[in-house]
Amino acid sequence: MRKNIVAGNWKMNNDLAETQELISDLKKQMVKEPNATVMVAPTFTNLYEAFQSLKDTPVVVAAQNMHQNASGAYTGEISANMLKSVGVETVILGHSERRAYFNETNELLAEKVDAALENNMTIIFCFGEELEDRKAEKHFDLVASQLKESLYHLPKESWKNIILAYEPVWAIGTGETASPEQAQEMHAFVRKNVADKFGEEVAEDVSILYGGSVKPANAKEIFANKDVDGGLIGGASLKAADFLEIVNAF
Ligand code: 13P
Repeated sequence: MRKNIVAGNWKMNNDLAETQELISDLKKQMVKEPNATVMVAPTFTNLYEAFQSLKDTPVVVAAQNMHQNASGAYTGEISANMLKSVGVETVILGHSERRAYFNETNELLAEKVDAALENNMTIIFCFGEELEDRKAEKHFDLVASQLKESLYHLPKESWKNIILAYEPVWAIGTGETASPEQAQEMHAFVRKNVADKFGEEVAEDVSILYGGSVKPANAKEIFANKDVDGGLIGGASLKAADFLEIVNAF
């Protein structure tokens, strides 16, 4: 059975004090047993603090990125083992901002995916088209190749560690959300694509999150779609009350 998941991607926001405050608000305001698995992804420097202060709660702490190699001369980078050593076992890979500003390609992401899985980590794998792709009606082909080139070399068993996150680039931070119909259409396409390659069971079990301007006001109608299993939330995850209202949309 696939899980409902609401994950907050805090991006490059919040210093240590702000992170502590946001976590403290989350702990105070969160219901005891939410109907979705809750995840938060602070910046690298705040992961240790976040893990320590959330380890007695059901909230999962995730990293926003990691390097594909285990160690070595890669100035400025962080490995899977380093994340695990501070308690972090989940990592976001392939976010469109990493693809756009840090030249992360499908091939590089395949290496990162392999490194995370070798370390038995869970991956939130992001993909999605840009506006021009949608206008040219290439969005399905583009998404299919993002999935194929980074994930389809995996053995079937690895899929228990994969969460997918469809984030149309034109909907990120723009206030423009994919309509519930557009989200459902893409999520159903992705599930079918996974089923064709890995079988019905894998496809039925994988959680597919939607990301892009999810807010308390639109979360319910987006999550109501049968192939939308939750959200990856940017801006609205930076305020505990808004984020928890989205969590409670399940
Ligand atoms: P916004 O919710 O701010 O549009 O960001 C979405 C996102 O990129 C989450 O990873």
